[in-house]
Amino acid sequence: MSDVENPRVLSGMRPTGQLHLGNYHGALRNWVTLQDRYEGYFFIADWHALTTGYEDTSALQSNIRNMLIDWLAAGLDPARSTIFVQSHVPEHAELHLLLSMVTPLGWLERVPTFKDQQLQLKDRDLATYGFLGYPLLQSADILLYRPRYVPVGEDQVAHVEITREVARRFNHLYGGGPAFDAKVKTALKLMNGADRARLQALRKEHQESGRAGAVDEAQALLDAQPPRVDAAARATLADFLHGNALRILPEPQVLLTQTPKVPGLDGRKMSKSYGNTIGLREDPDTVARKLRTMQTDPARVRREDPGEPTKCPVWDLHQIYSDEPTRAWAAAGCRSAGIGCLDCKQPVVDAVVAQVTAMRERARPFEEDPGRLDAIVREGSRKAREVAGATLADVRRSMNLTAEPAP
Ligand code: TRP
Ligand code: SF4
Repeated sequence: MSDVENPRVLSGMRPTGQLHLGNYHGALRNWVTLQDRYEGYFFIADWHALTTGYEDTSALQSNIRNMLIDWLAAGLDPARSTIFVQSHVPEHAELHLLLSMVTPLGWLERVPTFKDQQLQLKDRDLATYGFLGYPLLQSADILLYRPRYVPVGEDQVAHVEITREVARRFNHLYGGGPAFDAKVKTALKLMNGADRARLQALRKEHQESGRAGAVDEAQALLDAQPPRVDAAARATLADFLHGNALRILPEPQVLLTQTPKVPGLDGRKMSKSYGNTIGLREDPDTVARKLRTMQTDPARVRREDPGEPTKCPVWDLHQIYSDEPTRAWAAAGCRSAGIGCLDCKQPVVDAVVAQVTAMRERARPFEEDPGRLDAIVREGSRKAREVAGATLADVRRSMNLTAEPAP
């Protein structure tokens, strides 16, 4: 179970190929910061890519590699975070299967992305079993690692919500019984005799007479236990106290990513499907040229025409890439026509070019030596399998899919 001091975060991305600045500011940059405070698990959801793109898989391996290189170039650190590929951890498939047994069809049909995507991607046949199961595969991805948080954008909140519901249902179905009793017994043994007796008495009081205060007193007793009674044992004892079943699959929480608006070259949101992107590792000359011809406030037809920054996508880039004095200079110069759009863009060009140049440098060792990338993914997937395997062992045991007794 994830400990209190260094809780886990987990997130994934479908391998869409090279990432662009929108992906970076929308997710990746946030993951990199989270590494400082959390034990990070970050993976490429290659099976998820198949749910909408099963016909042509020819680019799958190169997309996976490129995305991994982008992650490393952006600063995901394999020494601190576990970086892996979903299909290298077959435990995801087994948990998905087991969860599919207990998940009502209606829950999946009601996930908003199910109908939305079917409407949006009309050219593809999305009437598949795999597509319906997309959110449940995602639930398995998450629950296997028992993370405290799942950092995602607004579009993924419904998927974390169904994950919580599935976990609750699973725990309700399989969390009671002998497996729970065994866990409680093990946890109680970590306490000294006097405290153990006191806890049991308070629990009885709480459950039988409902005396107000009994539960708080018991909780305080748990909080005051020495480190020997570790976080997992305390959680079990708290469940015991409250009459809960075992949290075999703890419910994760969304960590909503605050993202800046990243405009594409045409002023619409930067998105691969609009063809308006700047790649994270794109050639600096191309990046500079793209930015110089980027859409501005349409009111500034001629150099003498004043403009309004808030109507200009370049202004959104200034919010991300420029400091306050530069922004003040740009806004005043735009409104008075004191500067031209090319002048205004120059600090943004410099900052973005510096960023992609740094990314390219950090990517180079991995591009030149594919073995380095393979080693990182192999080690990450091995670590991931260890954690996932432990969860799956608990899951199998709770469902009586194994003859082994509880530990
Ligand atoms: N569905 C996510 C997306 O499209 C990708 C994903 C798959 C994911 N499994 C996950 C994200 C688990 C967070 C946790 O962006
Ligand atoms: Fe946009 Fe700057 Fe041109 Fe104003 S001066 S329209 S903010 S690029």
